[in-house]
Amino acid sequence: MSDIQIERADGVLEIRFNRPAKKNAITNAMYGAMADALESGATDAQIRAILFTAAGDFFTAGNDLVDFAAQSSGAFEGPRHVSRFLQRFIEAEKPIVAAVQGNAVGVGVTMLLHCDLVYIAENARLTTPFIDLGLVPENASSLTLVDRVGHARAFAMLGLAEPLLGRDAAACGLANAALAAAEVEPRARSAAQALAKKPAESLRLTKNLMRNRERLMLRMQEEGELFAERLKSPEAAAAFAAFLGRR
Ligand code: COA
Repeated sequence: MSDIQIERADGVLEIRFNRPAKKNAITNAMYGAMADALESGATDAQIRAILFTAAGDFFTAGNDLVDFAAQSSGAFEGPRHVSRFLQRFIEAEKPIVAAVQGNAVGVGVTMLLHCDLVYIAENARLTTPFIDLGLVPENASSLTLVDRVGHARAFAMLGLAEPLLGRDAAACGLANAALAAAEVEPRARSAAQALAKKPAESLRLTKNLMRNRERLMLRMQEEGELFAERLKSPEAAAAFAAFLGRR
């Protein structure tokens, strides 16, 4: 079974994290599969909305740290798909809905800041431990997190790696609703299906009016340069080694 499952039904392209034994940590190949799906969804007139879901108890533990360690040491070869995935996400003109049934870490949180609707389990914990990993925020989250939750809360999440609970995420406008975990996916799917029935061009124009992609892309680029430097830093190497050596 693939680590990313793609399904198309009722006008909705569903992208499912399906690596539960590794808490849905996202590998380079998974970013590639998701970027391909977003690209095909963008040009497929049958697809009117995109839905992210996840198997197991975690939404996603973020970027795979084995991949990060390989990128840090220079052992990684081949194209990195993460940037293509993040760019397609920001460029998406069709609405994106997320069903966050469990905890999310790193990019699993920052991707939510580009979603149009987010349904989350009330007890889910959102954490962004970039600084603990010797990194900097990515995916334009140094802008979008502040926009969504305000500087004080954003800095507690980025600086202290304080978790934001699902119910607080809904209260402060990061998510649309905090629900019992079992209700999250059905609610998100029905919202995506409802969006898929709306007048597509009106929806596209409205989403475009609501987003300043130029500003987001510029910040993502700035962050990306620093992130690439930090990946190779001794601080990051020590953090990855600590995770990989913890057993
Ligand atoms: N990359 C690679 N593997 C990961 C992973 C990640 N980001 N997160 C979890 N895993 C793997 C673990 O190594 C473990 O694999 P194993 O069973 O082969 O040893 C498996 O998933 C289960 O994780 P485990 O740590 O046992 O579960 P837990 O419930 O105790 O803790 C987390 C879950 C997510 C809190 C913890 O795994 C963690 O901190 N992961 C790193 C998160 C992170 O820093 N992501 C990058 C953000 S930029």
